[in-house]
Amino acid sequence: MCSLSGRQRGGKMVLQILRPPLLKHLQTASLTCVVSRNYSAKATIKQGEQVTIAGREYLTDQMTNVTSHLLSHVGRNLHLQKYHPLNHISQRIVQYMYQKYVSSRGNPLFSVHNQIHPVVTTWQNFDSLLIPKDHVSRQKSDNYYVNKENLLRAHTSAHQCELIGMGFDNFLVIGDVYRRDEIDASHYPVFHQVEGVRLCTKRDIFGSHQNMDSFRMFENGERTRQKQGVHIAQVLQLLESDLKSCLLGLATTLFGQDVEARWVDAYFPFTHPSWELEVKINNDWVELLGCGIIEQEILSNTGAQDKIGWAFGLGLERWAMKLYSIPDIRLFWSTDSGFLSQFQFDDPATNFKYQVYLIDTYTHPKKKSTSCCYRIVYRHMEKVITQEEVNIIHKRIEEKATADLGVTMR
Ligand code: PHE
Repeated sequence: MCSLSGRQRGGKMVLQILRPPLLKHLQTASLTCVVSRNYSAKATIKQGEQVTIAGREYLTDQMTNVTSHLLSHVGRNLHLQKYHPLNHISQRIVQYMYQKYVSSRGNPLFSVHNQIHPVVTTWQNFDSLLIPKDHVSRQKSDNYYVNKENLLRAHTSAHQCELIGMGFDNFLVIGDVYRRDEIDASHYPVFHQVEGVRLCTKRDIFGSHQNMDSFRMFENGERTRQKQGVHIAQVLQLLESDLKSCLLGLATTLFGQDVEARWVDAYFPFTHPSWELEVKINNDWVELLGCGIIEQEILSNTGAQDKIGWAFGLGLERWAMKLYSIPDIRLFWSTDSGFLSQFQFDDPATNFKYQVYLIDTYTHPKKKSTSCCYRIVYRHMEKVITQEEVNIIHKRIEEKATADLGVTMR
């Protein structure tokens, strides 16, 4: 029933699908091939060389394992790029936090820090967060070291201490983070995180009660699976429910009221207790963030010993992939207008799904059959894709469209 024809037109291969007459539809699929860049420049920078990273100079040594290709990502700041999906989603998160926490005068409590330099010291990335000297997460094989003392931050938690020390009680850090990882559809060595930190005083917890002096936040108790030794159980409960309602509220604001979500106990050296929030995506539970009650020792070290607080860290790409149905994490780095132009909306709360384009429809006046022309952009994430490879994939799409949708290829 189905006739398949292909012809070359101005570099584009046009394939048309004829729909069976019964359904009175005619569909056309057009195919555009886009050649992607070949990333093979993996050269490590040599020892003893001076490297400039986002305007700062560093002397490399035997610990250096950054490559020039990796460094080409520094400064792209996808989260700050207008109309980039990571920018849209970070704006939505900021808006949500602005609305959720307001001062008695009606001003947002949270400050946003989205341009902090990505090179941090090992002290910031690990020690300040109580990560032991022999912890696996410090390994050279897991991080991008600039030299012995400095690395590209592996998480935005690296900035917690300095900001708390500067006196910020409620803040968000948004930035690029770097971890050595195999590259596939859901992993890339550079991604983006939002860190949230909220510290509470006795007044924040109990309100301005007359005999506030008789209330206590701290005790000299036992550390258990549920709590730190210094925290009073009831105070901890208030903080935990504030943290969880904040994050569940964020997930439902972005993904809709009926998103399936669950809390899973977790471990981080800098929070206790700790949890991860998972949501169901296509029948799989996917971890969306880590969070917990900040270790009191960290607050004491930064001069905030009379406060208690929570922190969370979430990966922006995961959230954006779910929100916009983006199938591959590498697409965020695309400079291809086929990807980026789809996000050119001014209201970041626009509900939108990344998709194959419908570029033209035509209804035949007599036959009353409709012809639809879709553009599919094929690109391989690592190499130049050949016409033969595209033809195989395109044929599978045609067969599936014919079988499942009953269309006819033209
Ligand atoms: N920094 C953690 C990570 O990258 C996430 C986290 C942040 C966990 C804050 C708890 C508190 O995995």
